[in-house]
Amino acid sequence: MTTVTIEQKKRLFCRLVPDSYAGALANFFGSGPTDIELARKQHQTYQNALMDAGIEVHVLDADERHPDCIFVEDQALFVDGEVLIPNVGAPSREGERPPVEAFLREQLGDEKVHLMDSNAKMDGGDVIRLHNIFYVGKSSRTNDAGIDEFRKFLDRFGYELRVVNIPGNALHITSLSSTPTDDIIIAPEGYLTAKIFGELPQGSKVVMMPEEEAYGCNTIGLPGNKVLAAKGYPTVIKFLKELGLEVVEIDMSQIRAADGSLTCMSVFF
Ligand code: GLY
Repeated sequence: MTTVTIEQKKRLFCRLVPDSYAGALANFFGSGPTDIELARKQHQTYQNALMDAGIEVHVLDADERHPDCIFVEDQALFVDGEVLIPNVGAPSREGERPPVEAFLREQLGDEKVHLMDSNAKMDGGDVIRLHNIFYVGKSSRTNDAGIDEFRKFLDRFGYELRVVNIPGNALHITSLSSTPTDDIIIAPEGYLTAKIFGELPQGSKVVMMPEEEAYGCNTIGLPGNKVLAAKGYPTVIKFLKELGLEVVEIDMSQIRAADGSLTCMSVFF
């Protein structure tokens, strides 16, 4: 979930890895999970790292009928206290929604929970935020109607939406980019360019990373000058350290195997 600023990151929810995880969708970075116990260990390490950073972590049960259920980012777009529940783009993932929606209604109250129209499709993984600009990936999971619905949702806050076309060899905008600090977007050469992000607020910049480290461009900036990063992407990690951030590296092999990145596994709310 990349629709909140670093100072807004106080609590989040995630969802446990089901036994059925080997059946998760895998068409981009991954070719399918092979070791469920290792996936569970990596998920637990992720939770622990977030708790160590002072984040309150809520854990929802796994759903055996939905192998992709750990990727909760796609199920909710949380902006400044309100949440838009999108219609996710993959039909096999539609049934992940009820427990997520119920949890958010319980936590936030019905008046803060908004739903998309039925023809609109969007995955939460198709949004990143830089200040008051929301970049939305137009991808195999997010259509024009979904983007229009999200634009209407952002209008209530007066925020700007910019569309980024996601190349056919990538899943989401968060598969390729993130904001390790509130002022910096990192993105990979070969997939995206700095230019597509347009004019940025003063003091902000896009920093390009090598194409082969595309997966490493998904990071989670946290309060206290910390950042979570996937292990094994040296240019990204060196860059983050040079910014003066404390980098917590997480082994993501079995999460990447299902095309999942760090942000995919949680929603700050
Ligand atoms: N496996 C994550 C997704 O395709 O949505």
